[in-house]
Amino acid sequence: MKYDFGEVVNRKNTNSFKWDSAKDKEDIVPMWVADMDFKAADPILRALESKLRHGVFGYAHLPEAYYGAEIHWWQKRHDCLIEKDWIAFTPGVIPALAAIIQAFSSPGDKVLIQAPVYNSFYGIIKSNGREIVENNLVNTGESYEIDFEDFEKKASDESVKLFILCNPHNPVGRVWSREELERLSAICRKHRVLVVADEIHRDLVFEGRPYVPYASIDANNSITCTSPSKTFNIAGLKMANIITANMDYKEKVKQVMLASGIHDPNVFGIEAFIAAYTEGEEWLDQLLVYLKENRDYFLSFVRERLPNLKVIAPQSTYLMWLDCRALGIGSEELSRKLFDEAGLRINEGSTYGKAGDGFIRINIGCSRAILTEGLNRLEHVIKTIK
Ligand SMILES: Cc1ncc(COP(=O)(O)O)c(C=O)c1O
Repeated sequence: MKYDFGEVVNRKNTNSFKWDSAKDKEDIVPMWVADMDFKAADPILRALESKLRHGVFGYAHLPEAYYGAEIHWWQKRHDCLIEKDWIAFTPGVIPALAAIIQAFSSPGDKVLIQAPVYNSFYGIIKSNGREIVENNLVNTGESYEIDFEDFEKKASDESVKLFILCNPHNPVGRVWSREELERLSAICRKHRVLVVADEIHRDLVFEGRPYVPYASIDANNSITCTSPSKTFNIAGLKMANIITANMDYKEKVKQVMLASGIHDPNVFGIEAFIAAYTEGEEWLDQLLVYLKENRDYFLSFVRERLPNLKVIAPQSTYLMWLDCRALGIGSEELSRKLFDEAGLRINEGSTYGKAGDGFIRINIGCSRAILTEGLNRLEHVIKTIK
């Protein structure tokens, strides 16, 4: 392998949110915030170095190569054709969601999500004054499934204007099948609910079920958000796109973003984006091998050494969703214990909706050495809980 994902890169004192938020504690193992500890791919580093050496960092515009890179990636990696006109830049998926919520609903309207789900969905819906409606996913013990009956009941409420789909799903790691997406799509069309597909984790899919872009089902009645940020570990460069075949939708979202002063991309972000989507495949393919080994190591560890806890193998993402309900303590208390007693920082499940209480989310996008240390600390604390 060309890339060494086992290398431990010291991220302390680099203004890393993941590593530097707990200044009062030295010996920490941060397995929370969803970025990885790996260095970016060589082509990305070279593109950034070249921009840095140029030395002038004035306002930028998006070149043809930017759109070409996004279109190429969709086609090459996901067998899906999109057009340049469908693409609009945004400095992140969350800013895009905020703009979409503002463009397509009014304060007091409702937004449908599938809990447990990415905590910022809750934050961005609430802070825009919209109400959250949850369609809880069903944990069968072997998988998470959609309760379609409940979904339709909730979608049929006239105040529900939007459905934010997480595909693949953070934190449960499901990659939704074509059949599932078609059923969701039919319900949303019937009840005039706009589908917003957050597909930020689309490239981090393991063997088995392939990721199906929602746009391949209905590009006209939906808005998809994509980004190379999770895939290539460049979240701090703040580059993402919204994609829709519906030009009215695109214009509406762009107007809201313009009204908030969001238009210019970051000069470094553009270079990294193009390099990632045109030259990053080798790195990504090797990353997926490493992440799968991390995932399988995690699964065996938990099954052998922590049999009280349950974990379903995620089909995607570097986020493990661990069912700790058998311990009889809430996820907040468990999270506090793990941090206070072992310096292990994880995400507490309750922040992903009530359905997540008793669970914790653990980020395994790190070297095997850090993963092993984190798991040993987890075991140590869990074994003290009677
Ligand atoms: C599902 C999902 N959407 C969006 C984001 C954040 O996107 P951005 O950093 O582009 O705002 C994350 C980050 O963890 C995520 O998991």
